[in-house]
Amino acid sequence: MNVIQAVAERWSPRAYEPTPFPDAQLKQIFEAGRASHSCFNEQPWRVLFAKKDAGAARAQLEALLDPGNAFAKEAWILALSLGKKTFTKTGQPNRHNGHDVGSASQAMSLCAWDLGLGMRYMAGFNLDAARKLVPADYEPYSLFVIGHAQKGLEKPARERRPLLDSFFENGFELKSKSLS
Ligand SMILES: Cc1cc2nc3c(=O)[nH]c(=O)nc-3n(C[C@H](O)[C@H](O)[C@H](O)COP(=O)(O)O)c2cc1C
Repeated sequence: MNVIQAVAERWSPRAYEPTPFPDAQLKQIFEAGRASHSCFNEQPWRVLFAKKDAGAARAQLEALLDPGNAFAKEAWILALSLGKKTFTKTGQPNRHNGHDVGSASQAMSLCAWDLGLGMRYMAGFNLDAARKLVPADYEPYSLFVIGHAQKGLEKPARERRPLLDSFFENGFELKSKSLS
């Protein structure tokens, strides 16, 4: 599958089978995150993950979930994305860390899609509790699941803002003529 096809087809399932998938695939997904671009090549992304059978480590991540995201407990992988808030070389704040965690997150989800796996990010979690799991220099951004989507799920219609409402030419909120 090429990237354009993965971008076009990817969606985020909200129900999962508990079945495992090979570590080699998980490694491939994380390698896609690792390969992402970042400010000063800082690579501020960190991912804390637990498999469904990991016992206490898994329970710790599941406890973070908002009730509305309980579906995530079924998936083989439950993970938390984090961004390192300062540059390692200088100790200065890295205001781009969230941007770069986002880049890595997108790369991982496209790779997972290509491998036939589902992935869904979740902002609905207990941020204060998540912060307690990691050192102070790391900001939790999103919980996410990776796994086999429940069989029979239908892809919902994709809802997106019109292109010209988000991508401006020659000035903020100016409608591009070349893209219309
Ligand atoms: C940072 C982030 C936070 C999200 N939080 C949640 C969440 O808490 N619960 C949920 O079910 N989906 C969550 N989503 C999934 C989005 O609702 C979903 O990606 C969006 O509706 C677009 O659908 P698609 O990914 O299938 O294209 C989140 C997605 C992102 C990127």
